[in-house]
Amino acid sequence: MAAQEYKLKGLTSLSISPGSKQEIEVEGIEGGKVLLVNAGGHIQALGSKCTHYGAPMVKGVLTGNGRLTCPWHGACFNARTGDIEAAPGLDALPTFKLTERDGAVYVTGEEAAIKSSRRRPNFACSAGATTKFEGNVVIVGGGSGALGAVEALREKGYDAGITIISNEGYLPIDRPKLSKALIADAGKLAWREKSWFDAGSVRWVDGEVNNVDFSARTVSTKSGGSFNYSKLILATGGTARVLPLQGFKVLGNIFTLRNAHDVKKINDAIGDKGKKIVIIGRLWTESSASRSAPPCKRRTRARGSSST
Ligand SMILES: Cc1cc2nc3c(=O)[nH]c(=O)nc-3n(C[C@H](O)[C@H](O)[C@H](O)COP(=O)(O)OP(=O)(O)OC[C@H]3O[C@@H](n4cnc5c(N)ncnc54)[C@H](O)[C@@H]3O)c2cc1C
Ligand code: FES
Repeated sequence: MAAQEYKLKGLTSLSISPGSKQEIEVEGIEGGKVLLVNAGGHIQALGSKCTHYGAPMVKGVLTGNGRLTCPWHGACFNARTGDIEAAPGLDALPTFKLTERDGAVYVTGEEAAIKSSRRRPNFACSAGATTKFEGNVVIVGGGSGALGAVEALREKGYDAGITIISNEGYLPIDRPKLSKALIADAGKLAWREKSWFDAGSVRWVDGEVNNVDFSARTVSTKSGGSFNYSKLILATGGTARVLPLQGFKVLGNIFTLRNAHDVKKINDAIGDKGKKIVIIGRLWTESSASRSAPPCKRRTRARGSSST
């Protein structure tokens, strides 16, 4: 769809002061809004909703050095380019050209981009079709770090082979959703579909890496696979810590919360309703997991593995 010019409702001039932001309706697009920010004297129009779960970015924080932080879970965007600069968001905010004319202000952009408030990276690639780069990248781990790395590589024009090896059993997931909604279906948690990785010529390998030979530049998996690399990215993330207490070794019904398998175990233990749950851990995991659980009676213990 081609970009078009749209009038901003009720705005007669571009006059927001440095460090401030304003959400404005876009005429001609139902529900369409953009965010105007003045970052260091430069006024920019951006998507108005966070690309993570759609928080209104007008309620976020705009720093003096041009960083826009989401009010909900802290994703950060570059206020000039819309680029994503910090998790847990994945996509960038779209930017739109601003024009001031005859006592009105206009943005130029595609209707779909204004509505969706997101800009996906340019990821499609026929690896090996060109010779711009040689060799191949192997990434150990299949979480957000791995996904961020492959998307950045492809967007910056890296056109050689990329292989991701992961032992989690599914494509990269939006891990915060585990505690926010206790979702165990990896398909509903996935950041991107398999077709996205295929379009970017990213080879996905299910397996557990058990050795890296740095001299031979080879990665081995438990099942006997061997993968040569020219560059290696270790994106193996974190693991849940268990308290060093005897009860954690001998009692059942104690769970960590790190992946979809853990959520399934927790949901199975909770059942429909009537359980008592103790959550050890603070901040997001604790409060969001407790909101997601059904009404409680009997006794179950759970332990959050993350402070977020
Ligand atoms: C419940 C929960 C809620 C969260 N909420 C938030 C939030 O609200 N905001 C926020 O910013 N962050 C949040 N986080 C943290 C965020 O999810 C992590 O910072 C992020 O997942 C880190 O990404 P990563 O790719 O570095 O590691 P991970 O996501 O841990 O990915 C590592 C991957 O490597 C794989 N792996 C490990 N070893 C091997 C091996 N030997 N071979 C093959 N594969 C291997 C793992 O199975 C996994 O797939 C939350 C985390 C959890 C668990
Ligand atoms: S909605 Fe913005 S970081 Fe989650």
